[in-house]
Amino acid sequence: MAHWNMAARAAQMNPSVIREILKVTERPGVISLAGGLPSPETFPIAEFAQACQRVLGDDGKAALQYASSEGHAPLREAVAAMLPWDVDPAHVLITTGSQQGLDLVAKILIDAGSKVLVETPTYLGALQAFTPMQPTIVGVRCDAGGVMVDDLVAQAPGARFAYLLPNFQNPTGRTMDETRRVAVSEAAARIGLPIVEDNPYGDLWFDEPPPLPLTARNPEGCIYLGSFSKVLAPGLRLGFLVAPKAIYPKLLQAKQAADLHTPGFNQRLVAEVLKDGFLARHVPTIRALYKRRRDVMLAALDREMSGLDVEINRPAGGMFLWLRLPAGIDAGRLLPMAVARGVAFVPGAPFYAGQGDPRTLRLSFVTASEDEIRQAIGALAVAIRLMAAESGGQARHA
Ligand SMILES: Cc1ncc(COP(=O)(O)O)c(C=O)c1O
Repeated sequence: MAHWNMAARAAQMNPSVIREILKVTERPGVISLAGGLPSPETFPIAEFAQACQRVLGDDGKAALQYASSEGHAPLREAVAAMLPWDVDPAHVLITTGSQQGLDLVAKILIDAGSKVLVETPTYLGALQAFTPMQPTIVGVRCDAGGVMVDDLVAQAPGARFAYLLPNFQNPTGRTMDETRRVAVSEAAARIGLPIVEDNPYGDLWFDEPPPLPLTARNPEGCIYLGSFSKVLAPGLRLGFLVAPKAIYPKLLQAKQAADLHTPGFNQRLVAEVLKDGFLARHVPTIRALYKRRRDVMLAALDREMSGLDVEINRPAGGMFLWLRLPAGIDAGRLLPMAVARGVAFVPGAPFYAGQGDPRTLRLSFVTASEDEIRQAIGALAVAIRLMAAESGGQARHA
């Protein structure tokens, strides 16, 4: 009998809490506001069908061959041209989703015991990517505008990097305003704190584009992660990172060890689809759809939660809304009651590096239809009122 001795880092790995929750909630009859899935109505299927024909017809042999680890040159050039600062395509690395970018960053920057700073709360997938490297993950205090500069500076000594999500953050939906960006960027440059900036949602703004990324303000001090998952389709598994010259070769070596290269066929498809400014026509249709759904969800929340002491954020873009339930109501205990009434959400606690706030939860407003959103928020309010009544809270029954 083989005896499998696990590496210490394997002991740090855990199944994604969200995936575990999704298994329970993906039942017929349950409207899921839990997943982080883009709306499939937005996938440009016809454009991809045409691009397939062209890529295979024009250069099928190269498209199906092994390719370079850095990525397909025309796609790297397209990425550099898309970004709002002067980016040399030589600094762009195409990754297998931005999730791989997080994994590569963890491999080259984290030793066992290294301090890593994250937002409170932060993206769960980043915690999953960092944890196997056995860091000490420290949550920096945040307010509605994101990370708080005084705490960032206080926690910075000895930290390898700060992982920040300035635009329509997953899970809270919050955005860092211009003043905060200037302050964070200046402080990080002054104290020499590297920043890993993750921006998969930045293009999904509703009324006005967010301020410039942190990386644009100090490219030598930042690694920037981007993704095609939310503007084209997540099934492509296509993302990218932009890294300063000093560390790009190490990221490239980690990439080579991980998967040699991101599928060249997918890269060529996307390069083909992006030609002729496709994103400039396509992304506004996603924004319009998501904005409508956000409005429907906010209106339903205002109506259904009236009289309940529920705090609701009002995201200016992205895919997520964040709630804080009345005192005494634990989102983890609420979930089965909500699922029994036909609605699923993700409790917020797993998104925290340390002790999570049990009263928080995340709702996605993009995958359910407008009618489903209204129905789901109604069901959620019923579950909250029931639980508030059970726990003797002051909430009134509607
Ligand atoms: C903040 C954040 N970063 C990274 C990712 C990973 O995205 P990708 O599909 O590009 O791997 C996600 C996915 O939901 C995300 O929310």
